[in-house]
Amino acid sequence: MNDGGQRRYGPLGRILVIIPTYNEAENIKPIVSRVRAAVPEADILVADDNSPDGTGKIADEIAAGDGQVQVLHRKGKEGLGAAYLAGFHWGTEHGYGVLVEMDADGSHQPEELPRLLTALKGADLVLGSRWVPGGRVVNWPKSREMISRGGSTYSRLLLGLRTRDVTGGYRAFRAETLEGLGLDQVASQGYCFQVDLARRAVEAGYHVVEVPITFVDREVGDSKMSRDILVEALWRVTSWGVTSRTNRVLGRKAI
Ligand code: GDD
Ligand code: MN
Repeated sequence: MNDGGQRRYGPLGRILVIIPTYNEAENIKPIVSRVRAAVPEADILVADDNSPDGTGKIADEIAAGDGQVQVLHRKGKEGLGAAYLAGFHWGTEHGYGVLVEMDADGSHQPEELPRLLTALKGADLVLGSRWVPGGRVVNWPKSREMISRGGSTYSRLLLGLRTRDVTGGYRAFRAETLEGLGLDQVASQGYCFQVDLARRAVEAGYHVVEVPITFVDREVGDSKMSRDILVEALWRVTSWGVTSRTNRVLGRKAI
C-alpha cells in the first residue's frame, strides 16, 4: 500500500475535527470559531473529560447555537488517548470519512487544516509535522522542544520509522485507515498514543504523508504534559521496540 503515486484514493467524505479538552475554558470558543472559519464544511466534536473549569458546559453552549458542533461528555480524566478513541468511535459510527486530531489550545492552527486535507486526497494518513523542512515551533521552552525532539528521535530509531514527527497531535485520518489500525487493542493513554497510532499505520503499510506545520505554544491555560505521561511513553515505546525486534529475529530464525 506504500505506492502513494500509483494508488487511486477515494473521495474524502464528510470531515470531523475532534478536539479533546481538559480545562480549556478560555480556549474552547476561539478554537471552535477558527475551525469553523477555516474549514466551514467540517463538523467539530469536542471530547471533554468533565473538566473542572466548566469547559464542557461552554462547549454545550456553543453546540446549542451551531448544528455543526457536538460535544462528547466523558466521566473523568482518562487521558488524551482514551478521549481520541471515543471520538474516533463516535465519528466512524456517524459516517464521517475523515477524522482530524487537533488540540484545543491553538497550538495546531486551524488555518493550516486545508493543507492537511489536500494532502489526504493522496494519502491514507497525514501528519502535521514540526520536524520536516518548513515545519517549526514557536514560543516553546527549549526544555520542552528537547523532550519532544528527543522523543521523536528515540521512537523513530527504536521502531524503525522514517517519519520525522511521530509524537505530534495534528493529524488527518481517513476512516478506512483508522479501521485498519486495530484500535480496540490500543492501551496507550497519554501522548504516546500518537506514537502508537503512527507505528500501527506504518506497520499496516499505509501511505503516511508529513505536511509541515507551525506549532505555536499555548498562550492561555496549562499543558497537561506530566511526569506520568513521559514515563508511560518511555516504557511503552521501549517495549514496542523490543517486541518488534524480537519478532524480527525470531522470524528470521524460523525461516
Ligand atoms: N479529554 C481530554 N482528556 N483531553 C486532554 C487530556 C485528557 O486527559 N489531556 C490533554 N487533553 C487535551 C488538552 O486539553 C489539549 O486540547 C490537548 O489535549 C493537548 O494537550 P496539551 O496539554 O496542550 O499538550 P501539549 O501541548 O503539552 O502537547 C502537544 O504536543 C505533543 C507533541 O509534542 C499535544 O499535541 C500532544 O498530543 C503531542 O504529543
Ligand atoms: Mn498544548
